[in-house]
Amino acid sequence: MIPPKQVQEILDAVRIEDVVGEFVNLRRRGVNLIGLCPFHGERTPSFNVNPARNIFKCFGCGKGGDAVTFLREHENLTYPEALRWLAKRYNIEIQEVERTPEQVAEQQLADSLYIVNDFALRHFQEQLFDTDEGQSVALAYFKQRGLREETIRAFGLGYAPDQRDLLVRRAKAAGHNLDLLKKTGLCSQDGARDFFRGRVMFAIHNLSGKVAAFAGRTMSSDKTIPKYINSPETEIYVKNKILYGAYQAKKAIRQYDECLLTEGYMDVISLHQAGIENVVASSGTSLTEGQLQLIKRNTNNLKILYDGDPAGVKAALRGLDLALEQDLNVKICLLPDGHDPDSYVQQFGGEAFQTFVAGNAKDFILFKTQLLIGETKGDPVKKAGWVKDIVASIAKIPDPIKRSVYLKECSALLEVDEKTLHNETNKLITTTIKKREEKAARQPGAASDSPGPFPDYDWPTELPPAPADADGAPEAPAAREKPMSRGDEFQERDIIRLLVQFGNQLLEKEGITVAEYVLADIEESLGNFDNPLYGNIASECHALLVEGKTFDQNHFLHHEQKDFSDLAIDLLTSPFEMSPNWEDMWHYPLQNQQAPELNFDLDMRQALDRFKLRKIQKMCDVNLARIKTASDDGDVDAMLRYMKIQQKLNETRNEVAKRAGTVVLVK
Ligand code: GTP
Ligand code: MN
Repeated sequence: MIPPKQVQEILDAVRIEDVVGEFVNLRRRGVNLIGLCPFHGERTPSFNVNPARNIFKCFGCGKGGDAVTFLREHENLTYPEALRWLAKRYNIEIQEVERTPEQVAEQQLADSLYIVNDFALRHFQEQLFDTDEGQSVALAYFKQRGLREETIRAFGLGYAPDQRDLLVRRAKAAGHNLDLLKKTGLCSQDGARDFFRGRVMFAIHNLSGKVAAFAGRTMSSDKTIPKYINSPETEIYVKNKILYGAYQAKKAIRQYDECLLTEGYMDVISLHQAGIENVVASSGTSLTEGQLQLIKRNTNNLKILYDGDPAGVKAALRGLDLALEQDLNVKICLLPDGHDPDSYVQQFGGEAFQTFVAGNAKDFILFKTQLLIGETKGDPVKKAGWVKDIVASIAKIPDPIKRSVYLKECSALLEVDEKTLHNETNKLITTTIKKREEKAARQPGAASDSPGPFPDYDWPTELPPAPADADGAPEAPAAREKPMSRGDEFQERDIIRLLVQFGNQLLEKEGITVAEYVLADIEESLGNFDNPLYGNIASECHALLVEGKTFDQNHFLHHEQKDFSDLAIDLLTSPFEMSPNWEDMWHYPLQNQQAPELNFDLDMRQALDRFKLRKIQKMCDVNLARIKTASDDGDVDAMLRYMKIQQKLNETRNEVAKRAGTVVLVK
């Protein structure tokens, strides 16, 4: 049997979109995902996946449920088989054996510890809300720190009065076993004194909402006593596997597909109260792999929000590398001097906080590069050290494509030859692999197939070459001498193909034609085509629509301009071709070419995304060249300005890529 604890662990880990995504092609629409229902035949998607609720629902045939239901229905699995499937998918090892007496005892112990903690929680809450002292001292303290009563209750805050053994006495009177109380660390080993005295209390929940431990904060500003004290580690409180606030944040993290990481308890609580609920805290200890894995079960996107003091920067940098190793997309946002997220949101409010974070969160390359600019001030030796440092971070990223994109950006920003960076990265990776193998060799039998920091990837000795159409910045002299890039033409031609082939087809959902949709969607790029012929055709189509005219294939086939009609014949007879580098570059699923006429809706959306991605990529290149020029000129202000633009571009690019269902390449 699967122990109930593990069933819960499995269900906690499940992300409906992962599971359904294994079988159904899903596209994002708003906060949900849609696709073609696998349970009944349909041509337009009515199959909905809701990550926030962790459920699916088909509005066509009515089927719906959670991941387990999906697997049972779709794969014909029994309940335990579905759980096993999910455990495998999320790398959770199931101990399927009958439980040994020790395991049974362990589970019983855990259950009893939770019961004791639960009693303590209620005791601390009672002391806070229902006693004069609690109200006038502790409740007043929380309120003075800006917390509302509902927040105080939601986070299980409480009060431990400054009495020698109040909790011990109350627990005994309620019939609790003193040994268990000792085990939780709530009292001294001789049972004579409470551990938490004269402190406001914070309950620390596990992922399923049970109280695993407590932290107590002094209300005094006396620097000689510890500000916070914590329950010791126990069977149910393994510090490096618990993130403060994860229980309260779990849903929002999935919903927003992002996790904010702060340092402190109060940060989590204040942000949550301000409506920013996807937030957890590392609680002052340095972030651990186990904690990051908890995050990764819910999202791939992590934003580290730390204080801007040197300690905060240091902690952020440490967390960053660990997060990269877990293949998380990381951004970092440092709070202004003297502020932590709690004080900021209490002083300026949730909206201001969101604005601040939106304007100041940086991807790690930008973050490190800015530190570099500040610290090296033109000192080449120092700079070399920093470049190495950044490359070391990049080398930690398991995904070779992501790595490659970062190296390109890094090369432009730091003005270091891309090839050199690639070589440097590969050296570091080789060393890491060697170290891992040596380590595995030293522990025979144990580790050969254990996932290392770089799971599931075949390591090429050389990274894939940068796509021919994407290297170099178009404004750089070298690029100007080259024949005009063919890169954009593939995407532009594809847009024209859509117009010629399907222009007058009606899109069921939108109730407009393909031509109307496409041209409205790319209106801003109309004057911006690389290939003049394609540009002219697009503009002519646009003009026709503006005049209220329609057009079909014949319009093009019999066009008075011969290059128009030649192209139309070409497009309508030759198989549609795709940029050879496209898949390498974007991991973009190319659509099935068998019967495009049946699938013009999807075809159109994908072609539009490819077109937009390509245009954004070009803007990125131009902007990177600007950064380089600014840096050559030593114009730090301009450089930072362009770097900000770069980040916006990267974000837009990721958004398009994400909507299209591709991997997000750059953050
Ligand atoms: P407030 O002062 O209540 O706002 O707390 P804070 O979170 O701003 O405190 P700080 O930035 O000093 O510390 C961040 C986190 O580190 C805290 O939330 C605690 O989790 C942890 N921490 C801070 N001081 C101590 C301490 O003295 N002992 C322990 N064990 N943890 C601490
Ligand atoms: Mn604080």
